[in-house]
Amino acid sequence: MTHPVAIRFVETELDDLAAREGRIAVLITPEGKLTAASRRLDRLTRGAVARAVGSPAWGKLKPGEGMVIGWPGGLAAEALVLISLPRKASLAEARKAGATVGKALDEKGALVIAENHPSAAEIAFGLALRAYRFDYLSEEKKPFGPVSMMVAHPEEVAAKAAPHAALAEGVFFTRDLVNEPANILTTDDFAARLAAMHELGLDVQILEEDELKDLGMRALLGVGQGSESPSKVVVMQWNGLSKPANGDAEEEPPLALVGKGVCFDTGGISIKPAAGMEEMTMDMGGAAVVAGVMRTLALRNAPVNVVGLVGLVENMPDGKAQRPGDIVKSMKGDTIEVINTDAEGRLVLADVLWYAQQKFRPRAVIDLATLTGAIIVALGHENAGVFANDDGFAQDVVQAARAEGEGAWHMPLQPAYDSLIKSRLADIKNTGGRWAGAITAAAFLNKFVNSETPWCHIDIAGVALPPGETALSPKGASGWGVMTLDRLIRDKFEA
Ligand code: BES
Ligand code: MN
Ligand code: ZN
Repeated sequence: MTHPVAIRFVETELDDLAAREGRIAVLITPEGKLTAASRRLDRLTRGAVARAVGSPAWGKLKPGEGMVIGWPGGLAAEALVLISLPRKASLAEARKAGATVGKALDEKGALVIAENHPSAAEIAFGLALRAYRFDYLSEEKKPFGPVSMMVAHPEEVAAKAAPHAALAEGVFFTRDLVNEPANILTTDDFAARLAAMHELGLDVQILEEDELKDLGMRALLGVGQGSESPSKVVVMQWNGLSKPANGDAEEEPPLALVGKGVCFDTGGISIKPAAGMEEMTMDMGGAAVVAGVMRTLALRNAPVNVVGLVGLVENMPDGKAQRPGDIVKSMKGDTIEVINTDAEGRLVLADVLWYAQQKFRPRAVIDLATLTGAIIVALGHENAGVFANDDGFAQDVVQAARAEGEGAWHMPLQPAYDSLIKSRLADIKNTGGRWAGAITAAAFLNKFVNSETPWCHIDIAGVALPPGETALSPKGASGWGVMTLDRLIRDKFEA
């Protein structure tokens, strides 16, 4: 996998700036007050810094944005980047400042002069998140050069930045999985990548088709039955809380994370139109977020019990494929009329949600899925849709997302919508017609959740693979949700 760029924190040393190659970035307040370093750079460039900061363009920069002086006279550097950032920057602003450098990072590396800015660790994190790339170009790009950051107290900043390394690795793992094409990331390959996390201390179990049959997961298996790739459920356990000393005492029940892992969604027999179908390589995005969070928890040795479960299938049209009108029996026992084989994610989740609750008796359940096009109609690419059987729980998720600068919006889930998914022949049907498509999908999932278990469903169809770059990611997979869930777990689930 792609690894985050390593950032070294060093003492501020302004004597050798003139000879420094690559890019140099320096932080200046929006008011344009020069620091010791920027004053020094101003002298070396014979006043270019003060002129840039005094120009009208400086005042137009948003916090975290920068102004580039190319091939500056008086410096060996190829670029001098002046970044506008207040001393009291928000988390998002500080990360954005780092991203401004990360976006332009190349093989020559960079020097970021942060001096005594209080948000140095966050700036470094933003830089690392933005300096991500993923491609299959036959001509390989040169690896990123080294990044050093000059700060007032290197050891202190390095200690603050350490947990960010685990988080960045989790985000990159998620992005890599979402970016991979479906001929590479088959259900087998996905499961193997999860099994490899055994090395990090996760307990990983792979349930194969015969076991899924024995468990009665006919809803999940129906989705995968038209594919040459075998359907699987992968269970990743992180038990960060030591077992109670008293042998009889119950282990602390875990938080369960459940992810939709449709490695490719053609729609099945209800086949999708050709235009844009290539994007359905990202239909395993929910499973990828679950995997990224589990990776982060293990890397930062989180004091919490969390179990991650993903349903891995491929939705293909074939002689053996499921048909519209088929009726399947879920593991729960409820029968489902499959009106549209393209509403497959909820069929997968129904069984994995039920299994998660039966097997682990979790204290709460969160599922993530690229579930509906309707959530994109409602919220675009700025917010994920958050549905819950407990308003407080939904608020916790929305708040964690806001704190991390990831968009999330609380959507309604009320019994009134249930009538839309009543079936003539079975207990429930898998589509609810034209209106409120994201809500009827959530209402369907709700039928497979015990009402006493706090449950939250996050529809990430619009945010997993946004159409352009975001503040902290290049165009492609965003890794949306890893930071939000890691924060939620730290704030609400760790003792
Ligand atoms: N994977 C899609 C949803 C999706 C659409 C994700 C666009 C990302 C971008 C899902 O399986 C699907 O096809 N949903 C259908 C449901 C419909 C048939 C009720 C949809 O949203 O059109
Ligand atoms: Mn579909
Ligand atoms: Zn799908």
